[in-house]
Amino acid sequence: MSSIARTEATGGALDPDFLAWQTSLPVDRRLLAVDVAGSVAHVEGLVAGGLLTREEGDTLQAALRSLPGRVARNEVELPLEEDVHMAVEVWLRATVGELADKLHTGRSRNDQVATDLKLWVREAIGRLLEALERLDVVCEDWIAEQGELAMPAYTHRQVAIPVLARLWIGAALRSPMARDRRLLAVVEEEIAESPLGAGAIAGNTLPIDPWVAARELGFTSPPQNPLDAVGSRDHALTLAFACARISQHLGRFCADVVELSADGLAKLGGAVACGSSMMPHKRNPDLFELVRGQAALRLGELNALMATFQGLGTGYHRDLQQDKQVLFASVDGTVDCLRMVALGIQHLRLDQAGCIAVLERGDAVATDLTEALVAGGVPFRQAYRKIGALVAGQRAKGKRLVDLETADLDAAGLPHSLLECLDVEASARRRASRYR
Ligand code: ARG
Repeated sequence: MSSIARTEATGGALDPDFLAWQTSLPVDRRLLAVDVAGSVAHVEGLVAGGLLTREEGDTLQAALRSLPGRVARNEVELPLEEDVHMAVEVWLRATVGELADKLHTGRSRNDQVATDLKLWVREAIGRLLEALERLDVVCEDWIAEQGELAMPAYTHRQVAIPVLARLWIGAALRSPMARDRRLLAVVEEEIAESPLGAGAIAGNTLPIDPWVAARELGFTSPPQNPLDAVGSRDHALTLAFACARISQHLGRFCADVVELSADGLAKLGGAVACGSSMMPHKRNPDLFELVRGQAALRLGELNALMATFQGLGTGYHRDLQQDKQVLFASVDGTVDCLRMVALGIQHLRLDQAGCIAVLERGDAVATDLTEALVAGGVPFRQAYRKIGALVAGQRAKGKRLVDLETADLDAAGLPHSLLECLDVEASARRRASRYR
């Protein structure tokens, strides 16, 4: 280990076991590209402020820019340091010599890591939006093929009323995901301000214009308050919440699919169904169960982040280092699940005959019959009781509402026109015509 962040005042060398335990390098090496981008922008600010000559700046920037590719090609191994920021500086010192001693001018790892994380979050938002967009396209295709099929809507897990499948997909995925996209727009706002220039906690006294790095990196402003700039992880929390909510939406859709397939209303293609190692007849909805289970992990990650920040005072604390592994897992897991659900939907077929059988067995047109009486002038509560009695009468005879005959209606004193309301598909279409 080097000693770039140690002085006489720090007191001797780090215990190697402690160093190896506390390093964030295994996790934050993933930030190498954004860390280098941040350093290149910082060098621009130093050149503009006269703290580096243009030539010095060019030398540092060229070396920095070459690093991610060299690491990717295994030509360079990042030295074991406390974190990626120190590893880069130590490597730079070994590569360009003493000039590297000027890189950290007016900067701390505190504003550096805050900048890296915001840049990473910016990319993460892009990945999430792309995955959400892809899922929406797949939903649209599914609706074009199967959206007009009738299926049961459930309340309390009991057959309620016939609906069209497009309303289910809209409620389970498309509408919530559109709202989730707006949540990501909030995260975007929360990462707009550059932390560079905030230093360790209170900025610096050097002639460095923080606008230079801010502009280079595509931020909308330099830090407005250095304590806030190094200490805030609100964007990490909002992003983890967005991931948790997206995952909960996915999980709820998956719960629907598991139940629909258990009831024989949906069939899964073999490409996304697992078998049993013992029972030869199985075609299990594992993809959907795993995604449903992943929502619990996203909730745990959101919790872990909230708990990490809980009780910390203003400004930077080393505890904050642990935000990254949690946030990386949250975003990666969410992107993966969005991709898997998009795949799963492409292999999901509603079984129209199965749906109709369940709707008929469940007397799902009872509300339609009630509304038909109301339309004919019967007060709702009276119509409701009459149809309730009709359902009970049919059931007592071991029959369904759709088995009604004119004699049953005559006996109940109800109009024959009710026979026109027994088609479950027509019911679904009539109701859905009000909704796009
Ligand atoms: N590895 C640290 C982190 O990820 C970087 C900042 C360290 N700053 C410090 N003063 N020790 O948060």
